Amino acid sequence: MTFHQEDHKLLMIPGPIEVADDVLYANAHAAVAHVSPQFVPVFGEVLQMLRKTVDAPSAQPIVVAGSGTMGWDMISLNVLQPGDDVLVLTTGYFGDAFADALRTYGVQVEQLRAPVGGRPGPDEIRAKLESKKFRAITITQVDTSTAVLSDIKAVSELVHQVSPETLVVVDGVCSVASEEIHMDAWGIDVIMTASQKGLGCPPGLCIVMAGPRAIQALESRKSPATYYLNWNRWIPVMKSYEAGTPIYFGTPPTNLIYALHQSLKTITEGPVSLQERYKMHREASKKVKDTIRSLGLKQLVSEELQASNGASNSMTAVCYPDGLGAADILPKMAQRDIVFGAGLLKDYKDKYFRIGHMGH
Ligand SMILES: Cc1ncc(COP(=O)(O)O)c(C=O)c1O
Repeated sequence: MTFHQEDHKLLMIPGPIEVADDVLYANAHAAVAHVSPQFVPVFGEVLQMLRKTVDAPSAQPIVVAGSGTMGWDMISLNVLQPGDDVLVLTTGYFGDAFADALRTYGVQVEQLRAPVGGRPGPDEIRAKLESKKFRAITITQVDTSTAVLSDIKAVSELVHQVSPETLVVVDGVCSVASEEIHMDAWGIDVIMTASQKGLGCPPGLCIVMAGPRAIQALESRKSPATYYLNWNRWIPVMKSYEAGTPIYFGTPPTNLIYALHQSLKTITEGPVSLQERYKMHREASKKVKDTIRSLGLKQLVSEELQASNGASNSMTAVCYPDGLGAADILPKMAQRDIVFGAGLLKDYKDKYFRIGHMGH
């Protein structure tokens, strides 16, 4: 395949990210029928490769046109019910937004918030879990507004120890395929993500991995009051594609599925293993962070968290030096053909910028 992208500025925001040539080429696939023998195995393999990517042989992947945000709606409507108590661990903008989405559907939300650049500690989480029976806890593995990396393995272990009935729900939009995740082994019930970050595709796909307890939760509730987002409609479609006998509910975005297929092939089949891929992300992240430090710049993630693997490997949030702001730096980088992301966190957005270094 000889295919080259038009010249463009290097996109180094924390998603959407640069898309590899072969993935972009797959995205330009000629039109196919969404139920054709040509397309069906492609979608089926995408679902299988997603299980490998998050190491979740027992999970049901659900891939639907939409952005990551739609995952919050899906979880609110299919796994949870109005009145359920949910503990939201908040390490930035995206924890707040997840909480907002849950409240929209009548879920009773309690947020455990860390100071900016920090994350809630195990003692606080334990105390909350002991204070009431939560139906679910949500954790943002990497909050893209702060670059805080949560220790989802440790939190999930704690939940299983203190409150085993509580479902563990992970927002992996800024972490899947960049940060280590072992969904089954770590006892995670739901992971939601999207196509445009570590998965290396254009935006447009919402991806949710539903573990057996999340499926039980769906089955034990009355049918969700939504048409498009109802998993009772989508799960049979997903199963049918894996079985090679497609059924129809809502046309899948065939080109994006081709793109995701190509990207997942690289992620799951090489040239490097998933473990090696995580290691490469850690190395790339260290290079960026070491350089930031060598320039005398600080990160939004607290020093303490930086020292204990609490800074994301998929992105870096960099504080502007005293006396400089976005207008002094971002347009100058753009002149050098590099696009960095502006700050996102309310009250802090003029104090820092973000560098994405995930994916290929
Ligand atoms: C951690 C996190 N969650 C959720 C979202 C929402 O995803 P989307 O913008 O695809 O709707 C984002 C987007 O950047 C994110 O970073």
